[in-house]
Amino acid sequence: MKFNPNVLDCAAAPIAEAWSWVRDPASDNLIDMCQAVPAHLPPQSLRDYLGAAIMAGEGASYTDIRGIPALREALAEDIGKRYRGRVSEADVLITAGCNQAFCSVVDTLCQAGDEIILPLPCYFNHQMWLAARAVKPRYLSFNVDTAMPDPEEAAKLINSRTRAILLVTPNNPSGAIYSPRCIEAFFELAREHGLALILDETYRDFIDIDQVPHKLFARGDWRDTFVHLYSFSKVFSLTGFRTGAVAAGQPLIDQLKKIQDCTAICAPHAGQLAALYGLNNLYHWKLEKSEELAQRAIAIKQAFSHPDLRYRLVSAGAYFAYVEHPFEAAARDVVKDLIQKQEIVCLPGSYFGRDQEQFIRLAYANVHESRFEDVIGRLIASQQRRYNP
Ligand SMILES: Cc1ncc(COP(=O)(O)O)c(C=O)c1O
Repeated sequence: MKFNPNVLDCAAAPIAEAWSWVRDPASDNLIDMCQAVPAHLPPQSLRDYLGAAIMAGEGASYTDIRGIPALREALAEDIGKRYRGRVSEADVLITAGCNQAFCSVVDTLCQAGDEIILPLPCYFNHQMWLAARAVKPRYLSFNVDTAMPDPEEAAKLINSRTRAILLVTPNNPSGAIYSPRCIEAFFELAREHGLALILDETYRDFIDIDQVPHKLFARGDWRDTFVHLYSFSKVFSLTGFRTGAVAAGQPLIDQLKKIQDCTAICAPHAGQLAALYGLNNLYHWKLEKSEELAQRAIAIKQAFSHPDLRYRLVSAGAYFAYVEHPFEAAARDVVKDLIQKQEIVCLPGSYFGRDQEQFIRLAYANVHESRFEDVIGRLIASQQRRYNP
């Protein structure tokens, strides 16, 4: 059997690879800062509702390709409130998670050989999908002082093959929350050149509720340029239910429906019911969880101010801390050592694109702040390690 060389060239799935370095996955001493998963189950009320719905025979059938109308309406309303903008049910298509939303949008916009501009470091699944589809990533360099991408740098990379600019905010892996000004500058650039601005906002519920993430949805012309990607995975702890969404203009949604019909047909029905329940009933629960994570972000920043620590916190927010390690060594070797000697499971920066050997990602959302002192103690202990040049 011969394989697609583009897929052969794709990196292996990173989370599984990092866990393959763990000597004893059952060890009580492990601190799991590997994958971005909520540390809690969905609330009991959601589980009760979903259990009863499934028992009553709901959720077993296909839904509309675009998703359950009530869910599309509820999400449009939620987006409208969160961003103080104008979004309607017709702008929304529900997907089998935000990853599928991204893959389908790329397939809708790009042919092999086309280009997408995205900042370093970047989310590994985005990079893998672009490689599998032979869409060329054009990277923006990582500014270690601000962790913000530069629209002027992006302007220099635009050519006749460019189809989109892709940003993730709050960012995976850096945790950086891009300012509305930065996002709006990228929108202007994309608009001037007839490109799509794809914003993956999987972690938008972990931005302070008093802060509007950006004002793009308030623009009358947002649909010509802006493509919003969303996930229900983190906000309602529904990672396994595979539910996400795209909000975009009609021309894109119409083409996207073809891809959706061929791949998922529709997003999982049970996941859609759960997401709808969440939007209708869990607003206060969501704010509570978001507040817990905001406290955790403060705690991780404080923890990294330890005077003996030579690991430097570059940026942190939402679920992630992006950290510069103190060694002249490959990130992968540093992480293997942290996993095997200190039992901190985390990811090397090298999974997040080129020039990231000096960094590691800690998904701190998984770990209660009462354990941060222990994390810092282990990082300090790891500093004794000498690597061969
Ligand atoms: C930036 C980003 N986008 C998408 C996803 C995947 O979301 P979903 O579970 O909705 O597919 C993740 C999950 O870690 C993520 O970090």
